[in-house]
Amino acid sequence: MIYDEAFFQSFPDRMGTHSVKWDECRAQHGADVLPMWVADMDVTSAEAVTRALVNRAKHPVYGYTVVSDADKAALIGYWQRRHGVTFGAEAIVTLPCVVTGLKACVRALTQPGDGVIIQSPVYGPFRMSVELNHRRVMDAALVRGEDGRYTMDLAAVEAFCRDGAKLMMLCNPHNPVGRAWSEEELRALLDILNRYGVPLVSDEIHADFVFKPRRHISVLALQRERVVMLCAPSKTFNVAGLQNASAVCEDEALRKALQEELEASGVESGNIFGLEAARAAYTEGDAWLDALMAHLERNFRVLREEAAEKLPRAVLTPLEATYLAWLDLRAWGFDNAELMRRTEQAGVIFTGGAFFGEAGDGFLRVNLGCPTEHVREAVARLAKALV
Ligand SMILES: Cc1ncc(COP(=O)(O)O)c(C=O)c1O
Repeated sequence: MIYDEAFFQSFPDRMGTHSVKWDECRAQHGADVLPMWVADMDVTSAEAVTRALVNRAKHPVYGYTVVSDADKAALIGYWQRRHGVTFGAEAIVTLPCVVTGLKACVRALTQPGDGVIIQSPVYGPFRMSVELNHRRVMDAALVRGEDGRYTMDLAAVEAFCRDGAKLMMLCNPHNPVGRAWSEEELRALLDILNRYGVPLVSDEIHADFVFKPRRHISVLALQRERVVMLCAPSKTFNVAGLQNASAVCEDEALRKALQEELEASGVESGNIFGLEAARAAYTEGDAWLDALMAHLERNFRVLREEAAEKLPRAVLTPLEATYLAWLDLRAWGFDNAELMRRTEQAGVIFTGGAFFGEAGDGFLRVNLGCPTEHVREAVARLAKALV
């Protein structure tokens, strides 16, 4: 299979596949809406992934399945090869998904009433993981520059540590503001957390979407104690429906606490197809992923050009990482509900900024994992929505 531009431009019709992004969206918002929201991509999977799934499906018995040494070796090899991070098989805790990991870490590493630091605007389940478990959100909100680029408020992080925070959850790279945190920023953050003994959970599900010349810096490359790293093939290889993720934790005490929590709440992992897909993707998916990155960069460039032409008052945050663009539309003065109403009427559905916290009001997140034509059409419909 050749993974060229034509491959990523050919749109796999997803209607009728029980897709959240397409079927559910159109059931809710109308048969012709263009879905540019939830973070999965309208791209065909790597051939190796499909082959592995079909081969396994051909054996007609689907019983309980172990997470094998080969599964762990594939994950370890992948992180070594792509990110230069080494960890042992014993550090891996298999999960159904990354959000399970976020929630389990909150429950395992803190008590009800404890403070947990997050940095809004951030992927909604960060806040939900804290609130649903009756912990307190300590929001060290990111600082937005004039050009739409965000940085950490380390003074706020330190103030929350001083006030007794028991855990911090980092989004690395950051959804929705597209930052690939630098080594310097991460070291400065870890310095503060270490001074107060606060553990860090680093959600690195977007690790593979860092655009050159930047590269992904895992917290695991910087520190082994008091850190849990969460990762998955689900975003990278577009297999979110297969439910497979991992926590990587070299800190024995933290890992034990996490494993006990998963056991106590009956969280079992070992989805046959999830494991098959992950193993194939991690060992044979590099060429597909490299080509996808070029396609995503192109889509961001087109979004920037189209937005500059059709939405000159919008501010587009620079994209260092992820396939999710962050668009500031506050110049129009519409709140989240009004933006959602208008865009639905114009036939396009984005993720409303409020999903990422109050700081996201007046923003939309644009999913670039689609044919380039959809990016153009989405901007045209958005321009209509704002008139
Ligand atoms: C930062 C982040 N973490 C976790 C998830 C969800 O991952 P999973 O489906 O493995 O729970 C997403 C999905 O968009 C995400 O952006």
